[in-house]
Amino acid sequence: MADSDPALKPVLVLDFGAQYVQLIARRVRERHAFARIVRHDITAERVRELDPLALILSGGPASVYEPGAPHCDPALFSLGIPVLGICYGMQLICEAMGSQVRANPARGEYGRTPCRVLDSREPLFHDVPHETIVWMSHGDQIQDAGVEFVGLAATPSCPIAAVRHRRLPVYGLQFHPEVSHTPYGSLILGNFLDRICNNPRAWTMGAFVARSIAEVSRRVGSADRVVCGLSGGVDSAVCAALLARALGPRVVCVFVDTGLLRSGERDAVAAAFGARTAAELRVVDAAGPFLQALAGVIDPQEKRRRIGHVFIEVFREAARSIPGARFLAQGTLYPDVIESGGEPDGPTATIKIHHNVGGLPQQLGFELIEPLRDLFKDEVRRLGIELGLPDSLVWRHPFPGPGLAVRCLGEVTAARLDVLRQADAIFLDELNRAGLERQVAQAFAVLLPVQAVGVMGDARTYENVIALRAVETEDFMTADWSRLPQDLLARVSTRITNTVKGVNRVVYDITSKPPGTIEWE
Ligand code: XMP
Repeated sequence: MADSDPALKPVLVLDFGAQYVQLIARRVRERHAFARIVRHDITAERVRELDPLALILSGGPASVYEPGAPHCDPALFSLGIPVLGICYGMQLICEAMGSQVRANPARGEYGRTPCRVLDSREPLFHDVPHETIVWMSHGDQIQDAGVEFVGLAATPSCPIAAVRHRRLPVYGLQFHPEVSHTPYGSLILGNFLDRICNNPRAWTMGAFVARSIAEVSRRVGSADRVVCGLSGGVDSAVCAALLARALGPRVVCVFVDTGLLRSGERDAVAAAFGARTAAELRVVDAAGPFLQALAGVIDPQEKRRRIGHVFIEVFREAARSIPGARFLAQGTLYPDVIESGGEPDGPTATIKIHHNVGGLPQQLGFELIEPLRDLFKDEVRRLGIELGLPDSLVWRHPFPGPGLAVRCLGEVTAARLDVLRQADAIFLDELNRAGLERQVAQAFAVLLPVQAVGVMGDARTYENVIALRAVETEDFMTADWSRLPQDLLARVSTRITNTVKGVNRVVYDITSKPPGTIEWE
C-alpha cells in the first residue's frame, strides 16, 4: 500500500540472516522512515527501481571470508544512495572496498562494551557522548580500515568499531544500534536517517491512516461491501476500525462466539465496536457446534483441527448472508508477510509457519483485503489509538484462535470451561488492579486434567488444579516467566480457591520458552 506513495521512499534493510533484522526495521520506523526488509542479493537495478532513501545491511551469522558467505551486489555502493552496514553488514562493505576482515584475536566481543567516539563532530555520532556503551556480538572484525575508510569509534578490543567512507555516503557500525542495550543506538540510527539521508519523516500513523483510507476506498469502490472477521484481538479490531473509517456502514464485522472465549470478551468487543464505529457488527452464537465438535477430544492438535473446521463453516454461513459482500478483510501483519515469504523482494520463508490467527481461507470466494500488511505489532497498537479504540482493546494480550480449548487440558466441556473462565478472570483482574497487565506480555489460567486432595473446613476435598501462566516476551518466539509479586499470587490463589467452585489448588508455572511453550497445549 505504501508503495503507491511516491513521497514515502523506503529504507531497504537487506537481510543477511540476522536475528535482529525485524528489530532494525522497527527502529527505523520509530524514526519515521518506512523500512522494508528485502533479500540480501537484491540487484542494484531493482534497488534503483525501488528508489530507496537508504540501504541498511543487517548482521548475520556467517564470516565474510568463508566460501559461500552471503554477499550483496557490489554495485549497490556506487548508486549514490546512503548505506549503513551493521556488524556483518559493515564487514561486508569494508571487505568489498578493500579493507581486511579477520577473526578478533580475543575470540570476539559479546555483550555490553565500552566504546569511545573518536570525533564527536561526525554527523553519525551527533549528541552521542564521547564515552558510551554499545552492544557487541561478533567474532570477526575489521583489521585494517585501508585507504577508503575513516575509523569513527573504538572499543578496547575492536579499534575500528565504526567507519565512514571517505568519498561515498557509506557507513558501518560493528555494534548493534538496534538493540536497547546500546543506549544511544536509536539516536545513532536517527542521525544516519536525519543527518545523512535527509529523512523527510513521512512515516507516521496519521499519514498511514490517510493513505490507507484513500487506497481502500479506491479498491473497494462505492457499491461493494467488506466482511471483516473480529477475533477479539487487537489486529482484527484495528483492521475493522480502519476499514470503518474508510467505508462506514459498508463494513460488516462478524464476531463468532465460539463458546471458548474469555470472560466478558463478547461484551467487550460489542461495546468497543458497536458504539465507536459506523461498521455493522454481527455476533454469531456458535458455542453449540464448537462444543459438539470437541466432545471427547483430548489431543491438542485434534482440538485445533476441529475448531478450525467448525470456524470456517460458521463463518462461511455468516458471510453468505451478507448481500453485496465482495471483499474479506484480514488483519495480516508485516512479520507474517515476511515470514511466510509473501513479499516480492522479501527474504525467502525460512523462519516459521505462522500460527493461523483466526485466518480464513481465500477459497471462501472473496477478494482479500489486508490493510495492516505493512505494519509491525507496535505500529498496529499506535494505529488503534490513532483510530480512537479504547486502551483495553489496544493493549489486549494475544489470545490463541482455539481459545480456552487449549487451556482446558483434557476434555473440553461447558462446565470445565466455566471453571477455567472464572479463574482466568480473577487472575487478570488482580493483575490489572496491580497495574501489571502491560508489563506481562500474556497471562492466563490453565485448567489441568488432574484432581488434587485438599482440606476445606473439616472435610477432605478432591478437586481441580488451576495453573497460572504469565510471561514476558518481545516476540513470543522466546519468553521468560514473569516474576510476579508473591503477595499478588497469594491474592489470586486465595480468591480462586475461595470463590471458584471445584478448585482446591493453584500453582504458578515457572518455565521459560524454550524449553516450554507459552501455552500448555
Ligand atoms: P506458544 O504456545 O507456541 O505460543 O509458545 C506463542 C504465541 O502463539 C499463541 N498461540 C496460538 N495462536 N492459534 C493462534 O492463533 C494457535 O493455535 C496458537 N497456539 C499458540 C500463544 O497464545 C502465544 O501468544
